[in-house]
Amino acid sequence: MNTLNIIEKLKTENTASREELIFLIKNISDSGREVLRKAAQELTLKIFGNKIYIRGLIEMSSYCKNDCFYCGLRRSNKNAVRYRLSEQQILFCCDDGYKLGFRTFVLQGGEDGYYSDELMCGIVSEIKRRHPDCAVTLSLGERGEQSFKRLFDAGADRYLLRHETADEAHYSKLHPESMSGAYRKSLLYKLKDIGYQTGAGFMVGSPYQTAENLADDLLFIEQLRPQMCGIGPFIPHKDTIFRDCEQGSLELTLTLLSVIRLMNPYILLPSTTALGTIHPKGREIGILHGANVIMPNLSPREHRKDYAIYDNKICTGEEAAECVPCLANRMKSIGYQIVTDKGDYKSIRNSECGIRN
Ligand code: 5AD
Ligand code: FES
Repeated sequence: MNTLNIIEKLKTENTASREELIFLIKNISDSGREVLRKAAQELTLKIFGNKIYIRGLIEMSSYCKNDCFYCGLRRSNKNAVRYRLSEQQILFCCDDGYKLGFRTFVLQGGEDGYYSDELMCGIVSEIKRRHPDCAVTLSLGERGEQSFKRLFDAGADRYLLRHETADEAHYSKLHPESMSGAYRKSLLYKLKDIGYQTGAGFMVGSPYQTAENLADDLLFIEQLRPQMCGIGPFIPHKDTIFRDCEQGSLELTLTLLSVIRLMNPYILLPSTTALGTIHPKGREIGILHGANVIMPNLSPREHRKDYAIYDNKICTGEEAAECVPCLANRMKSIGYQIVTDKGDYKSIRNSECGIRN
């Protein structure tokens, strides 16, 4: 086995075996990384041009009934400052975002029982009533299948639920016993069945993670075929048991972004805030490795610092008011352009760009 041959296979066949992926993750050199990066960037440019889709992120609640070991918002973190946005506040963020050019709103939050199906359905349908040309994406963790259906019927278009790790034994090392990796994965298939454009994803460099685990994450994405895949480096949070663990590596995150792009040419691949947190140009570098989405923060400024999933998160201080122009400039600086269309996966796939798969 040889890393360059594996990269070539990813380029020409858009796939690789588990053994090849493990070998690549363990052995790729700096020069191999550059070959991989170029292939991923070229493919992205061929399909999407230099367009970067923007999604307005509204962090609606820092309450969470879950206790994931890695997350600063876990319920047993007594130091976390909790807030939740009212329906009016959420609608205001969307109206504001609409004026800034956003046509997708991502409502993200901890698993907060306050937002009943009834309340959430009302919020979703009111956003769609005010902005019928916009997509509504939900990222509210595990809700039951019935709840997912009701929200879909109320007008939600997309749902983001990271699988976190495809390996069930590894999943158990990151979550309390009450949670299950198999169940999480089954929910992703359900979301797709219901008709959501679905996003999965995982952390890179989470505690106990192996190259084998990452290969399984890549193969899970290949099998599920989600419309979006969010990945970012693990970053320790001071009030969790993983406070002293090492942060996920920039290089490995970039390598995986490129491999995901080659294995899933049409996928929507965000260059995440976590990537921007571990390197001042992280989001730009992510784009150059095959990412094509950024998710600027539209949350009310006074709450941003309290949506503290990990330490040192960017865009939470004084500079936060400038996220949209800042990102537009950052993208421009690397030759890319922010676009405001909804960026529906289906319309992208159906466009005539002559790429198979
Ligand atoms: N570092 C990086 N990402 C994290 N997430 C949660 N905690 C951390 C952390 N410490 C990610 C998870 C979750 C998403 C909202 O944020 O993947 O799904
Ligand atoms: Fe938030 Fe630059 S993107 S300040």
